[in-house]
Amino acid sequence: MKKKLKVLVLFDGSGPTTIDQDFSKEMKTEDWKTEANVMAALGTLGHTAEHLGIYDDLDLLRQKLETFAPDILFNLADHFKNNPGFDQNIVSLLEMQGVAFTGCGATGLTLCKHKGISKNILGYHHIHVPHFVVVPRGQRTARLKRPKFPMVVKPVKEEASYGISRASFVETDEQFRERVTFIHEKHDCDVIAEEYIDGRELYVSLMGNTRLTVFPIRELVFREVPPDEPKMATYTAKWDEEYRKRWGLAYQFAENLDPVLVASIEQTCKRIYRLLTIDGYARLDLRLTADNKLYFIEANPNPHLAEDEDFALSAGKAGLPYPQLIDRIIRHGIQTVRG
Ligand SMILES: Nc1ncnc2c1ncn2[C@@H]1O[C@H](COP(=O)(O)OP(=O)(O)O)[C@@H](O)[C@H]1O
Ligand SMILES: [Mg+2]
Repeated sequence: MKKKLKVLVLFDGSGPTTIDQDFSKEMKTEDWKTEANVMAALGTLGHTAEHLGIYDDLDLLRQKLETFAPDILFNLADHFKNNPGFDQNIVSLLEMQGVAFTGCGATGLTLCKHKGISKNILGYHHIHVPHFVVVPRGQRTARLKRPKFPMVVKPVKEEASYGISRASFVETDEQFRERVTFIHEKHDCDVIAEEYIDGRELYVSLMGNTRLTVFPIRELVFREVPPDEPKMATYTAKWDEEYRKRWGLAYQFAENLDPVLVASIEQTCKRIYRLLTIDGYARLDLRLTADNKLYFIEANPNPHLAEDEDFALSAGKAGLPYPQLIDRIIRHGIQTVRG
């Protein structure tokens, strides 16, 4: 019998929270399914689980660590004051406090979040990355040295396809300038403009610290998108089921990949995970071209953990039921050497 643990699950509060706030109502909604799934799994595993929502008051965390004295903190927080830019700062604090926690540390989160820095590191190590240019707010676009059209223009540090739509795909100087200005002004973010990589859209989930497990590959297929249209996981593609039906988009397990190719994709993904100093678990977004070149698009440390999302589905296919997956993530968190 494995030791039962005291687990403190850290949530994002969307407004100010209190130390003993009850989130059961929120957890019944679609937006909170990850939180609900993880709490349920901890119950199934027989751990003693409590939760704490954080908005902007980190003293609550200090108090809760003192009164509950958890063996491990299960980190589901990736916002601070509704700002997703601060996830690595919350984790930095945990590292300084010396408390064990699940998932990725501050360095990995920081390197992965910046879509330019991560590509520079991987490009240096001869992993295929799209050519790109970063355009900070306030910088003029006229004389930039930049990749060839078509390009994808996106926020340099966003996730969940925020700021990604059909208009992110640009083919002319005018479209490029318009989209860069839009992201600068409406999203108030710096921009990365990348060469558009045509190919299959693959998602690879990995777990571990030194020894890594790679789970079966997922794919977003674009069945009815016309050949001259870009194939991208835009915001609507990701979050709107009706839209997916209309364009024949489907998230599924990748089919018809040669086992030799799969083995080489797995090796590359392990290298990426290590080069970006990821801990715990992650999902990598990749593109596979018609001539089987694998391009890195983005790394997502601490990917969404809901039972019906890619990471858990991949683990399930590898024979790891959801509660066992949650337990493994905890055990990895306990073993991770931080700081
Ligand atoms: N360089 C690129 N070439 C082709 N498609 C891209 C490129 N960059 C982004 N995309 C498309 O946009 C989606 C979202 O981009 P990504 O960088 O993963 O942003 P997010 O962090 O919001 O998930 C990708 O999954 C892919 O479909
Ligand atoms: Mg992505």
